[in-house]
Amino acid sequence: MDQRHQSHHRPQHPNSNHHDNHQSTFKRDMDDSGRGHFQHKRFRPGQNHHPAGPSTPPSSPPTQSLSIQRQLYERDFPLYKQPVEVGHFSLDSERRFFNDARQLRYYVEPEKSCPNFDLRDGYRGRFVKRDDRVKEKLDHILRWILANRSKLQSKDTAASSSPCALGVDIVTWRGHLTKLLTTPYETREGWLLAVTRMGGTLYISEVETEAARRDRENRTERHEEMMYWGYKFEQYTCADDAQSLPDPGGVVNTNEAFCTVVQTRLAEHRLLFSGEVDCRDKDPKAPSPPANYIEMKTSLEISTPKQRSNFHRFKLLKWWAQSFLPGVPRIVAGFRDHDGVVVSVETYHISKISQLIKNETNCWKPTVCMNFCCEFLSFVKSVVTEDDPRLVHLFSWDPHRDVTYSIHRDSQYSFLPDWYVREMTSSTSRETHHHPPQT
Ligand code: A3P
Ligand code: MG
Repeated sequence: MDQRHQSHHRPQHPNSNHHDNHQSTFKRDMDDSGRGHFQHKRFRPGQNHHPAGPSTPPSSPPTQSLSIQRQLYERDFPLYKQPVEVGHFSLDSERRFFNDARQLRYYVEPEKSCPNFDLRDGYRGRFVKRDDRVKEKLDHILRWILANRSKLQSKDTAASSSPCALGVDIVTWRGHLTKLLTTPYETREGWLLAVTRMGGTLYISEVETEAARRDRENRTERHEEMMYWGYKFEQYTCADDAQSLPDPGGVVNTNEAFCTVVQTRLAEHRLLFSGEVDCRDKDPKAPSPPANYIEMKTSLEISTPKQRSNFHRFKLLKWWAQSFLPGVPRIVAGFRDHDGVVVSVETYHISKISQLIKNETNCWKPTVCMNFCCEFLSFVKSVVTEDDPRLVHLFSWDPHRDVTYSIHRDSQYSFLPDWYVREMTSSTSRETHHHPPQT
């Protein structure tokens, strides 16, 4: 690290959860104006960049950051291959993992266009909330990978020298990618993404920021209740099988989840990620997954032009990014009043959202989202070159700043569990012989 730059460091990074004095080196190469003479050392979108070669001495790593300025990403839409579902898994009412679709639900269209669903019903007595203090990191995806390795290993990866080669470049949650897609337009919430390279694959796992932890611990009672409303809407509209009806009298348990695992490619990046799916089309003739999946959403009813504009500019961005990534084609939205009563239901087709927003001034652009995500992944690949399951590069972003990173070895940020590393690095083990622990 160039000593001259250390005076620019703030004593504690605003995003960081902990001081990590002996192991961590922030590579903030910018002065606080965001402009300075070090700008040429930034990762330049669209250029080949190989700054962190293995021969770089550890004492003088390259200083780098990635700009999030939108105009840098306004170019042709990058290649994004149609996502293919390679598997799925379920988490039950106690958050136990099952390598099957037992939690997949079926969409039942409300009988009336104004259904009057009361989203507050059951909040007091029929709600089991997942403990969001527990950080599961990538564990469920890793369990799925161990149980399904043969589905992933193509001919060339099976023959490759590394037993932990998966034949993909990136493993992560869909939600983490959604955050990357929306970053060029985000003005409020930063993020921290921990990255580890093992067997040539980059694993990306989110770390809760200090600000997010504070928000989580200080939610108002009203906010807590409103977080329930989205799940309650799912209960009004989803049934356990194709023949039955929803059961609004049952318990809402947010431990339960059905997750799809998809494979796709963004430009040169081969991605494997998982995301929760709310339900599927119950028509047996519906197309195969993920094309039969439906995302359920709730939102405040729109009464004024300003509200419509805000809905297009902010909410549809998040909705689009979340569903576009795994190839979920439809969103069913319940519009509710301030008392949590659903007054109308509308379907949005993901492929039509860009048309819907095109008359909005100062609006988001899908191409900026995708190009930024692509450049971030290239940046990560160029920085994280050392294969080591205990090594974490912590990428950090705050609104109005560049993306930077810090390095942590054997720290609290290490997130690949021993059971996964052991299984992946033992070349003889195969999915039929081993059962990773449930918790
Ligand atoms: P809505 O989607 O109707 O807002 P998802 O839509 O991603 O399937 O999430 C289901 C529900 O979880 C959301 O319903 C909302 O109620 C709750 N939820 C998810 N993420 C949230 C967040 N960051 N803050 C508050 N509530 C959230
Ligand atoms: Mg939903």
